[in-house]
Amino acid sequence: MAPGVLAQALAALPRTANSNVLLGFETSDDAGVYKLSEECALVQTVDFFTPIVDDPYTFGAIAAANSLSDVYAMGGVAISALSILCYPGEGDMEVLREILRGGAEKMIEAGCALLGGHSVADEEIKFGYAVTGTVHPERYRANAHAKAGDVLVLTKPLGTGVISTALKRGQAEEAWVAAATESMLRLNREAAVAMQAVEAHGCTDITGFGMLGHGREMALASGVTLKIEAKLIPALPGAREAIAAGAIPGGLKRNRSFVAEDLRVEAEVEEADLALLCDPQTSGGLLVSLPEGEAAEFLQRTTGWRIGRVTAKGEKAIWIR
Ligand code: CO
Ligand code: CO
Repeated sequence: MAPGVLAQALAALPRTANSNVLLGFETSDDAGVYKLSEECALVQTVDFFTPIVDDPYTFGAIAAANSLSDVYAMGGVAISALSILCYPGEGDMEVLREILRGGAEKMIEAGCALLGGHSVADEEIKFGYAVTGTVHPERYRANAHAKAGDVLVLTKPLGTGVISTALKRGQAEEAWVAAATESMLRLNREAAVAMQAVEAHGCTDITGFGMLGHGREMALASGVTLKIEAKLIPALPGAREAIAAGAIPGGLKRNRSFVAEDLRVEAEVEEADLALLCDPQTSGGLLVSLPEGEAAEFLQRTTGWRIGRVTAKGEKAIWIR
């Protein structure tokens, strides 16, 4: 979840006075957290979207990896899932079987039990999952937990949005699409396990609002400033070329104007780096805020790139240089 129409609508609702709700919808976190006992809290999230790749099996698998990601972003273990499907009544059943098979096999890889689901007849295909996970009630990694002095690590390169746009425009090389697809298919589970193995503080996954949109939420929730080194931002192969070729998704422009007033950008930062930081990601990586002393071990346990630091709250939520 993140700011958007739903967040605005939810903000007007009465708050639940329930001490077991550790994280509700107020903080734009990736998932809700509900305490069951002193040892165990539920992590709950839902996500579904329209096809982002042509191959139905791959679409199903990416939808699963993307839905699971919000549980991993809390440092949780995904335990069960329900599928959500919108599909044309007269639609091709073989295509549908492939979507469901891709999703089911990704859930098996994640060790997450598929319990059922619900479908609605709809002209436009949409698919995803509601996922339930568990976490220790004192060990979930919220947006609000980043601390000044922390190191920022990003666990997947950016660029899935610009590469899919380049693909639609017939500008993408096969190798770019293959690398982006591989990245979207990769579970954030290993990164979640690594976060629990070290004393990580805050975390969010990078999805539709881009690195800066989700980073801004973390900065505002934690009352800090994220200082990002543009030159350290990892890009998928072809992402910078796609930007140079003008393959700019509408979401990138919206993300950029949304974060604009919370940014301080130094003059030497290149336009392409700024675009990459605003690129909407599908099944993106985790942005983890952790103490300097834990960063080396975290990076030994999982792939990631140091991209900057957390500092005491400055004039703007994010400072890019
Ligand atoms: Co979400
Ligand atoms: Co998320």
